[in-house]
Amino acid sequence: MVLIIGSKYNSKEFAANIILNSINMVDIIKASKRLIYQRTLKNNAPTWALTELAVNKGKKLAKKYRVNRKLVIASLYLAHTIFDEKRKSKIQKTHELLSARFAKKHLDKWKVLAKNQEIILNAIKAHHGKVPTTSLTAEVVKNAECFKFLTLEGCLMFLHDLGRRHMPLDQAVDYVIDKMNQKTNLLTLKDCKREAARNRRKILEIFKELLK
Ligand SMILES: [Fe+2]
Repeated sequence: MVLIIGSKYNSKEFAANIILNSINMVDIIKASKRLIYQRTLKNNAPTWALTELAVNKGKKLAKKYRVNRKLVIASLYLAHTIFDEKRKSKIQKTHELLSARFAKKHLDKWKVLAKNQEIILNAIKAHHGKVPTTSLTAEVVKNAECFKFLTLEGCLMFLHDLGRRHMPLDQAVDYVIDKMNQKTNLLTLKDCKREAARNRRKILEIFKELLK
């Protein structure tokens, strides 16, 4: 049994998720994965391996926090359907709202139930903490997303991608650390905070060596 200490979400959401789990939504995962893959090729970002890293973390957290796995996965795939690799560009700064708007058209086309759309769209809009989450599912999505930059694997994949973009190593390391700091501040789930703090110490040690 998983205890969610201090959670603002009640048992109604858990009950709703049991109902949601019984709905055949296999296609939404395939459809959203296909869509983000096409969009990633078009936008050249985000790094595909990072998307998969967040999805894998989302699967584990969905099980632990007993929220609908399919909604978590679909949200994580759809959250960056509108994106741009240019740091601090207008698109990067507003990609949550832009991606939610873009995803809505596809969710309608895929005939996703309004109740599920509501959860997915809120999870997309809220994954950078600018909009409040309205479900534990969205909270899980937000925390899973953070691990793109709070695991050694994720940081090295991002560093590798920045190298591909010809960014000098010292600037690239600064960028990764900046992302790591942003994501640390977004974490809300206690076990994620603990895990991230451990990872962060190791990553910073390695980066220190790298820049010696
Ligand atoms: Fe994002």
